[in-house]
Amino acid sequence: MKTNKIIIAGGSGFIGEELGRYFSPQHDIVILSRQLPDADNNRNHHHLSLPANAPPVRIIHWDARTTGPWVSELENADLLINLAGRTVNCRYTETNKKAILESRLQAVEVLGEAIALCKSPPALWVNASSATIYRHAEDRPQDEFTGEFHPGFSVDVCQQWEKIFYAQHTPHTRKVALRMAITLGAGGVLIPYFNLLRFGLGGTQGSGRQRFSWVHSEDLARMIEWIAVHPALEGTFNCCSPNPVTNQVFMKTLREATGHRWGLPAPAWLLRAGGALIGTEAELVLKSRWVVPARILETGFTFRYAELPAALSNIISQVPRRQYRLF
Ligand SMILES: NC(=O)c1ccc[n+]([C@@H]2O[C@H](COP(=O)([O-])OP(=O)(O)OC[C@H]3O[C@@H](n4cnc5c(N)ncnc54)[C@H](OP(=O)(O)O)[C@@H]3O)[C@@H](O)[C@H]2O)c1
Repeated sequence: MKTNKIIIAGGSGFIGEELGRYFSPQHDIVILSRQLPDADNNRNHHHLSLPANAPPVRIIHWDARTTGPWVSELENADLLINLAGRTVNCRYTETNKKAILESRLQAVEVLGEAIALCKSPPALWVNASSATIYRHAEDRPQDEFTGEFHPGFSVDVCQQWEKIFYAQHTPHTRKVALRMAITLGAGGVLIPYFNLLRFGLGGTQGSGRQRFSWVHSEDLARMIEWIAVHPALEGTFNCCSPNPVTNQVFMKTLREATGHRWGLPAPAWLLRAGGALIGTEAELVLKSRWVVPARILETGFTFRYAELPAALSNIISQVPRRQYRLF
């Protein structure tokens, strides 16, 4: 891939950092973030002093709702990736539900407006969606062609997110929605799992039969790169390894990769009670997400980390031992 200008809206979080690490320093990376006050942003860009291992990127301020000076960054960009949205790792109260939905819809709408203002708009817009758009499935895998959607909060959010994305009129910008599975890297969702392991709680969760669809963060980045260099590809793609596992297998593989011989199982009732205590939803681990990447495989893409043991051992090798072991 030649040197490109890549804009990552909502790129200050876990996936944004993983993408930044993959695409820099060969590419010019700009992150749109709400976290810089306008006063710090008087030259319309700002070099932050990031941790030593953080990718070199420029951070530009936006509010994820209204157009502003940040729009000029989209001119001549090769790739716009939008990850912005309030975290779903919280209780689904009415206030949180509204924020989860509205933050996503507003970010997409304002990016659509910004693209319309560009003389030379981004060639490609990849928008996050989630593999949780599909129904709870313990019977068969869900792909882009035959997958089913049953009403529910997280399914509705993803459907509205994709609907507003495709509603944006961007005649000169190719569009791809990525239904990302749980993304595994040296951060993100593995951090709470490491904490469970450290305290001997890394056993099967719920029945253990619920499927765990996952993708290594490097394959997520490689998939975006693949889509970028294949201009015929557009529309919706599942972004997950071709080999989802059950929760029981996931927890066992994770214990093996981190050298834990055992872990106490957590029945569904305990996860529900624990979720209420720590302010999250048990659905995040109890929903059976059985998703496969049919479309991208048809294009000839191959996953570097198709199997969970190799993915986890690669990630664990990047993480300090104290994160997943008490001693
Ligand atoms: N991680 C996964 O396994 C996974 C799987 C499927 C889908 N996804 C989706 O992919 C996206 C990125 O995931 P992630 O794990 O990187 O999430 P993350 O770490 O929570 O980062 C999301 C970014 O969105 C921005 N943001 C937060 N609240 C916002 C709000 N109210 N309005 C506008 N922007 C807001 C934040 O950037 P600033 O604070 O800098 O503005 C934040 O860095 C999310 O939308 C997530 O739902 C993630």
